[in-house]
Amino acid sequence: MNVVVVGSVNRDVVARVARIPAPGETVLASGLARTGGGKGANQAVAAARAGAAEVAFVGAVGDDPDGTALRDGLSTDGIDVAGLEVVADATGTALISVADDGENAIVVVAGANAARTRLSESQRAIVGGAQVLVTQLEVPVPLVRAAAAARGDRAWHVLNAAPSSPLVADGNALLAEVDVLVVNEHELRDIAGAAEVDHAVDSLAARLPALVVTLGSRGCLIVVSGARRTVSAHPVTAVDTTGAGDTFCGVFAASLARSGALPGDGALLEVFAEAARVASAAAALAVGRPGAQDAVPTAAEVAEVIARSEESR
Ligand code: RIB
Repeated sequence: MNVVVVGSVNRDVVARVARIPAPGETVLASGLARTGGGKGANQAVAAARAGAAEVAFVGAVGDDPDGTALRDGLSTDGIDVAGLEVVADATGTALISVADDGENAIVVVAGANAARTRLSESQRAIVGGAQVLVTQLEVPVPLVRAAAAARGDRAWHVLNAAPSSPLVADGNALLAEVDVLVVNEHELRDIAGAAEVDHAVDSLAARLPALVVTLGSRGCLIVVSGARRTVSAHPVTAVDTTGAGDTFCGVFAASLARSGALPGDGALLEVFAEAARVASAAAALAVGRPGAQDAVPTAAEVAEVIARSEESR
């Protein structure tokens, strides 16, 4: 497998509102949509649409209509779902409000995503065949650590530390098992336990082989073995930011797999910068469309955006 994603899959229930309500406030929505989501599943879809030849998703759903529909959706994208288990808990649900400016507020009811802290033997075998393993923190940390332990010696582990919280005990041990940490500014500060961005970057970059910090409209920062590179973002009018970070991670993983680079290779800054350039273009397209998985662009759409931005230079 080029890319194996171990993580969450959710039924997203999305209300479109003029603005995100303040605590205690009620607002009226202009519409409601039920779509495919969950950070892990969104990342798997992004990797598949980016053209990774083989993508597998390892996770859990309930024995319910949402679980069946979400599994079918992943299969339609060509994703191997042999590692998607059916458990007794209900399929995960995310209650999402999306405002007119594209910002969102999300409450996740983990359900089946929280049911497992270990991989089954067949799931371990799937992870063992990964060239790039992608994880997030919407499933229990022990499950993420089990996935990291099951990967092959020369496989990448890309952790998107979302949703974040200050890492303690298990979480701190997890960082030692990561090759590339992808975070936004908020997650960066949380994970580093530092209020100031520069300080947080220095502290995490010293503990990891590679760090990628997504900065929204300001692009992203890559730090590899102390060397830094910034990649600019594509201008976009935000329609819905839900899942844009997931699109970035999935496309980044697919590009990393395509590069053929291995952990410990030289010249990795260039490899990461190219992967981030493609991932940023894909994320910009995703921000301009509604939904999470619905908004993930194809490789052809991303190539067109990159070509247009190169022409206009
Ligand atoms: O990152 C976006 C995702 O977060 C949504 O699809 C939702 O399911 C939550 O997991």
